[in-house]
Amino acid sequence: MKVIWNNEIVERSEVKIDMEDRGYQFADGIYDVVRAYNGEFFTLNEHVDRLFSSAEKIDLVLPFTKEELKQLLTKLIEVNNIDIGNIYMQLTRGIGIPRNHSYPDPELVPSVFTATTTIVPRDQEKMDRGMSAFTVPDMRWLRCDIKSISLLGNIMAKHEAHKKGGDEAILHRDGVVTECSSSNVWMIKDNTIYTHPDGNLVLPGVTKIMLLKVAREAGLSVKEEAFTIEDLKKADEVFASSTTMEAMPITFIDGNPVGQGKRGSVVERLQQLYVDAVEEQCGKIR
Ligand SMILES: Cc1ncc(COP(=O)(O)O)c(C=O)c1O
Repeated sequence: MKVIWNNEIVERSEVKIDMEDRGYQFADGIYDVVRAYNGEFFTLNEHVDRLFSSAEKIDLVLPFTKEELKQLLTKLIEVNNIDIGNIYMQLTRGIGIPRNHSYPDPELVPSVFTATTTIVPRDQEKMDRGMSAFTVPDMRWLRCDIKSISLLGNIMAKHEAHKKGGDEAILHRDGVVTECSSSNVWMIKDNTIYTHPDGNLVLPGVTKIMLLKVAREAGLSVKEEAFTIEDLKKADEVFASSTTMEAMPITFIDGNPVGQGKRGSVVERLQQLYVDAVEEQCGKIR
């Protein structure tokens, strides 16, 4: 399998990451994940924009322009023959010797970029069935808008949910729901769709932006408003959204059914609207 290492496409075995890489030492880096359907990227511009925006927020100097990056990624999915799959890209602040918390001079220490691909088919059966989630306190930092590679808070939360037999963790700060450990979270009450507004407490999900757009275009009632765990427990429907999951129903929370304990009609509609948007960019999903 080929990967991108800095500005080149190479065999994965050729990649050598230095033990003093600041990504390895300090989790000083950012990442993004974009999905391809039918060998075509979906919302590539939005993901590249977010990678550049995350970089800007931490003063990380990118080694390429947006156009150069898009060309490189397009070449990668071609050489790896990715029909449907995920493309993971990561940038760190480079190899800082000697180890020092201060940012090194970007003129002397270039950032390190890698990108890999994985073939991941759509899990239609899971999207129909839904998943279970557990509520977990959000113990992450206060810049969750940055897609940082420092994910310890996220993975600890997901592990809590997994230990209880759940698929995902729904995070809350003092009872106010923020997002999930690796997705945005939404609830539907009386036919209005709610999700936490963008800001420093949640990742501005590309899937969320797309779902907000298609829902509004379809005339559905949408509010970017925070809600509480109590609201969530009385919701008619709940779902999570991410590039890899699309719109995934959450049918059980803390062991109790949401609504009827199965996918609801609003989520089903949103799933279809999302598929329509994918097909508009990438062609009929095979
Ligand atoms: C914490 C968190 N929130 C939200 C999302 C959803 O973002 P997107 O829709 O851009 O994949 C992710 C995706 O990885 C995430 O890790």
